[in-house]
Amino acid sequence: MKTVLVTGAKGQLGQCIQKQSKHLKENIFLFEDYDTLDLTKKDQVKKYFEQHKIDWCVNCAAYTAVDLAEDESNEAFSVNAEAVSILAEQCNKYGTRLIHISTDFVFDGVINEPYTEDALPIPLGVYGESKLKGEQNIIEILKPYFIVRTSWLYSEFGANFMKTMIRLAQERDSLSVVNDQVGTPTYAMDLADVICEIIRQNSEAYGLYHYSNEGSISWYDFAKQIFEYVQSNIILKPIPSSDFKTKAIRPKYSVLDKTKIKENFNVEIPFWKDSLKIALERINE
Ligand SMILES: NC(=O)c1ccc[n+]([C@@H]2O[C@H](COP(=O)([O-])OP(=O)(O)OC[C@H]3O[C@@H](n4cnc5c(N)ncnc54)[C@H](OP(=O)(O)O)[C@@H]3O)[C@@H](O)[C@H]2O)c1
Repeated sequence: MKTVLVTGAKGQLGQCIQKQSKHLKENIFLFEDYDTLDLTKKDQVKKYFEQHKIDWCVNCAAYTAVDLAEDESNEAFSVNAEAVSILAEQCNKYGTRLIHISTDFVFDGVINEPYTEDALPIPLGVYGESKLKGEQNIIEILKPYFIVRTSWLYSEFGANFMKTMIRLAQERDSLSVVNDQVGTPTYAMDLADVICEIIRQNSEAYGLYHYSNEGSISWYDFAKQIFEYVQSNIILKPIPSSDFKTKAIRPKYSVLDKTKIKENFNVEIPFWKDSLKIALERINE
């Protein structure tokens, strides 16, 4: 019987893991968030690891406000980099295997082919920089780590693009969405399944991995498909990023190559459209 600690458990991915972990009956799951285990507090984290024997730790905790991070660099680095070191040190001390989640925003998006794990990360903003530093801290401190970079997370939980589009479909007659940023949506429930599978396999295939759903589209394509599935008559207009200014610059292309994760864990990755359909059905349940 293994004990699995999930941090940031009230966030979007954390809630998906709470749901999917019910299939892993042979493990004990401990779910903690900011209010019960603040990863920026070294003493708290130390004490937690002293008091519990943790075999696996899944770190879903993060500072995820991409635009706000441009003004709150200290806060972003505190959670995404320094707290990650604190966690990795405890994992190292107690032989805990860490599964840490990172992002496609570590890339600048100037190449037009899927990014492999070997590609050079060049973040465009503070959020991406802080997440990259978190990855580097883990690699420096710990051997038994799995860093899983993912992209465009959505689900029935938390705030995300899919839920925003559903809301806007009810509030507006027309909407403009950027069509020159290409990536892949990831249903957080699919990512949660893969994380659970790594734990189920009790894997020692440590390293850096990429995971998203299959396919590559723009935010405009994503919105279009959401509106089609929810049978909305909203008028949707494609616009360039230059017409939709954000504080943080986003990569123009951030499709991830998933060959490594598929081969190492023998997992099949759903096509983005199929997962979106399932997510929309579940949101209506
Ligand atoms: N969302 C995306 O589109 C996306 C894309 C690529 C990668 N990712 C990565 O995927 C992971 C999961 O993302 P998500 O969408 O599930 O994020 P999320 O919904 O923002 O969840 C993050 C959770 O971490 C908690 N947290 C923040 N500071 C903490 C601290 N000091 N100690 C403990 N918990 C803390 C947050 O609590 P509060 O809400 O109270 O602050 C929240 O519950 C993150 O690593 C993120 O960088 C996300």
